[in-house]
Amino acid sequence: MSTRILQKPHARLRIYRDPEELAVKSARLFARLADQYVIGCGRFTVALSGGSTPKAMFSVLAKGPFLDTVPWSSIYFFWGDERCVPPDHPDSNYRMTNETLLSRVPVPRENVFRIPADLPEPERAAAEYAATLTRFFFGGSSANQTGTAPLSNVPRFDLVFLGMGPDGHTASLFPHTTALQAGDQIAVANYVEKFKAHRITLTAATINNARNVTFLAAGEDKAETLKNVLEGSYQPDLYPSQLIRPRNGTLLWMVDEAAARLLADQHLAE
Ligand code: 6PG
Repeated sequence: MSTRILQKPHARLRIYRDPEELAVKSARLFARLADQYVIGCGRFTVALSGGSTPKAMFSVLAKGPFLDTVPWSSIYFFWGDERCVPPDHPDSNYRMTNETLLSRVPVPRENVFRIPADLPEPERAAAEYAATLTRFFFGGSSANQTGTAPLSNVPRFDLVFLGMGPDGHTASLFPHTTALQAGDQIAVANYVEKFKAHRITLTAATINNARNVTFLAAGEDKAETLKNVLEGSYQPDLYPSQLIRPRNGTLLWMVDEAAARLLADQHLAE
C-alpha cells in the first residue's frame, strides 16, 4: 500500500505500512533536511529522542547510503530528554544513540551535546543543559540565524524528533507533571511519579520554537492515544503531546498503520 497522507488541523500526518518503512522514511527525511540546512545555513541542528522508534531510524542512518552521503560533520546533535543515569547506563538515551548511530558515523565529538543527567541534582543538570544550549545558539557567531524565531531567548532547532508514549507523553513531558507548566524556560528537571525518578526534558516552549518538529510513533498500543491527541478535545495535561504546536515551523507525524488504525480518514489530502 502507498503512503497515506492526512491533513489534521495542526499537523500533517504520513502513514507507513510498518515500523521498518517508517524507519527508512524518517531517515530519508533527516537526510533531506540535513542537506537543505547545511547547504542553506552551513549547519544542521537536531534534537533527538529516546525510544524504540527513533532507535530503528538511527540504525538505518548508520548504514549506506546515508553513512556516505549525509553531511555528518556539519550536524550538531542534542537531545530532547534524558533519564537521570550515567551516559554508559543501559537506560541512557545518549548511550542508545551513541551505540546505534554516533559511534558509527563520522560526526566530530565536539558536535555532540549530551544532557548531563548524571549530575547529582536534576535541577542543576537541566540548568547546565539550558546554559549549553544558550551558549551554542546565542553565543559568538553561531547565534540564532534568522529573526524568524517566535521566542528570541529560546533555541531554535532546525529539527526536533519526538516519540510518543502510550500515555501521551513526549520527550519527558509526562501527564500531570510540573514540566507542563514550565513557561518559556529552555529545559527543566521533571519528577515522574510512575518511575519515582526525575528526567531532564526540553520544554514545550523550546520544542515549539523549532523550525521542524517530527513525531515518530509505531505500534498498536499508540492507536487510541494517537486518536485522542490528534482528533480529541485539547487536554494537554492528560495528553502532553498536544502541547506540541510549533509557532513558526512545521509539525509532521510519521506513524505506522497500526498506530493510525483508529484515525478518521476524512481529512485525506493528496
Ligand atoms: C524516552 C523518550 C520518550 C520516547 C517515547 C516513545 O526517553 O523514553 O524520549 O519520549 O520517545 O516514550 O518511545 P517508543 O518509541 O519506544 O514508543
